[in-house]
Amino acid sequence: MQRIKAKKLTLGIVGGGPKSWIGHVHRISSRFDNQYEIVAGVFSRNPNISKKFGKNLGISKDRCYSTYQEMANKEAKRNDCIMVVAIMTPPSSHQIIAEKFIDKNIHIISDKPFAGNLEQAKKLYKKIKSNKKIKYALTHNYSAYPMVREAKRLVEKGKIGKIEYINVEYIQDWSSGKTIKKRNSKKILKWKIDSKIVGTSAVLNEIGSHAYHMVIYISGLKGKTIIADIKQISNKIKMDNNAQVIINFNNGAKGMLWTSVMARGGVYGLRIRIFGTKGSLEWIQNDPNYLKFNPSKGAVKLLERGFFNAEFSKNFSRIKFGHPEGYLDAFANIYREFASSIKNNSKKRYYFPNEDEGLETAKFIDACKKSSRRKKWVKI
Ligand SMILES: NC(=O)c1ccc[n+]([C@@H]2O[C@H](COP(=O)([O-])OP(=O)(O)OC[C@H]3O[C@@H](n4cnc5c(N)ncnc54)[C@H](O)[C@@H]3O)[C@@H](O)[C@H]2O)c1
Repeated sequence: MQRIKAKKLTLGIVGGGPKSWIGHVHRISSRFDNQYEIVAGVFSRNPNISKKFGKNLGISKDRCYSTYQEMANKEAKRNDCIMVVAIMTPPSSHQIIAEKFIDKNIHIISDKPFAGNLEQAKKLYKKIKSNKKIKYALTHNYSAYPMVREAKRLVEKGKIGKIEYINVEYIQDWSSGKTIKKRNSKKILKWKIDSKIVGTSAVLNEIGSHAYHMVIYISGLKGKTIIADIKQISNKIKMDNNAQVIINFNNGAKGMLWTSVMARGGVYGLRIRIFGTKGSLEWIQNDPNYLKFNPSKGAVKLLERGFFNAEFSKNFSRIKFGHPEGYLDAFANIYREFASSIKNNSKKRYYFPNEDEGLETAKFIDACKKSSRRKKWVKI
């Protein structure tokens, strides 16, 4: 377990209002390890809803703000200004909101995707790199599961040899059991059908980004060229709902990524398989405490979180092996490590996803769109 220091980091929040599920996840996860105290926020674009919500969370009246601009400006003038801001608004607003707080030297934890499109992603990346006083974390939370980290460690130790093939899929079902028609699409899919809000591609920004991040995180590889086939709901509803991508990696490995938000009955199905010259690894989000390690010589091994055969995973576990541990814990790992990195400011290795991985994922998504449009291989 990591050492927990007493002093908490003060946290402000943008987004994640009453109906946002992920807002709830951020607020719980930030408090898991007593590293943060939520002291300020703007939770909705509607100032009345925002202030009422903030008050119910126990935030003092003078720190429940109407807009993120007001929050950044007023907080920056306080002696007890927030140290970190967590952003959980729709994709195309991530860049502009993050930049406002970077200008005030406030650390950022942002939900994915890194930005709405590649142009925004490049601007944000430059801005983050230009301010040495701040750190940036991106909540690609699946990479923070203990057994995903164990998988990364096994790859780094050469246990599966040189990686040759990667297969990843992340599928969901946003249909609510209905046939999506023009007249019901807004009600069911909300801002996800608006490309100005969701950005380059709904399916790739919303969940494909997690799948690609998982690939580059565990393997340490980067995509070099891709060919993609992206499908939209229909000619009338132009939202991307399915993408199949073939990837050539920078070490010569081959990969396939399938992501869909209209895979009927497919609920939170994130699965990854990585094959190397000495064996393979398999992890499935619905059974997160186990990692299959299949050496090419010998029987398959089932590695269990927190157990002696998965030593590294203990660093990211709170609950003893045998008891289930899951989504919130993984999310909280990002908050915990980000806090440690801010407090310690050392050269120690931290595992939270950062701007480099964010930009890499934005480049991948942009290349997928180009490839699908041109029906050709495209460089990332
Ligand atoms: N990491 C994950 O697993 C995960 C899961 C779900 C959603 N997300 C991400 O979280 C983000 C939000 O998604 P959501 O489903 O919660 O959306 P949502 O529409 O349900 O909630 C967004 C909230 O932000 C508020 N908001 C929007 N713009 C704002 C602004 N300028 N100032 C203050 N508040 C503002 C809205 O009022 C709303 O309360 C997206 O980027 C999405 O991709 C991540």
